[in-house]
Amino acid sequence: MKGRFIVFEGIDGCGKTTQISKLTKWLPSSGLMPEGTILHITREPGGTELGQAFRKLLLNPPKNIIPQDLTELLMYAADRAQHVSELILPNLEKGDWVVSDRFSGSTLSYQGYGREIDLNLINQLEKIATQGLNPNITFWLDLSVNESLARRKGFNNDRIEAEGADFLQKVRCGFQTIAKQRNWIRVSAEQSKEIIAQNIKEELLKFDLEARRINA
Ligand code: TYD
Repeated sequence: MKGRFIVFEGIDGCGKTTQISKLTKWLPSSGLMPEGTILHITREPGGTELGQAFRKLLLNPPKNIIPQDLTELLMYAADRAQHVSELILPNLEKGDWVVSDRFSGSTLSYQGYGREIDLNLINQLEKIATQGLNPNITFWLDLSVNESLARRKGFNNDRIEAEGADFLQKVRCGFQTIAKQRNWIRVSAEQSKEIIAQNIKEELLKFDLEARRINA
């Protein structure tokens, strides 16, 4: 794949959106992206027009619509399948860079560790939905459950956020396990926004040096 695929993961309130918007300002002028390439910022669920419909049904469905756990899993997978084939792969093939707010690690953590759906089943589904695509680099913004709940106090929770502390604890443990298995870069989300952004920049510069060394 010619382009680069960067993913941000973490529990609700970990500050992915803030960090992605900082990155959007820095990356194009960082000297890391080859000339003529474009940065695409996207997210899951909802990175495509079809995905927007999935996002609404998943997170803010009408009161009488309650997705079952397995249905929820398949909807996240369907959103991802569309996202990968419509947006992510074509842009990476052109050599562009793609930054995504969440990817398949979220399904393993939320539906696997949180909802306790069989991990092998989720792994199989991941292969189908992603067509085997893996991020080049994944940042895990690690936040404690207490801090996540405190940051979101007073805000309207979506259907997943409303699951509460025990669920979120299981999801965080999931992220911890997957981060180790997949060599994700852990960044503590309990530091200032500026320090977190600095850590992310340094890791991207390091990754680039390593990639150049391997290609030399
Ligand atoms: P997100 O867009 O990060 O929430 P926000 O609107 O607060 O920024 O994520 C939406 C929710 O979807 C979040 O609670 C996690 C959940 N989710 C899953 O449960 N499984 C998945 O595969 C994905 C991508 C998200």
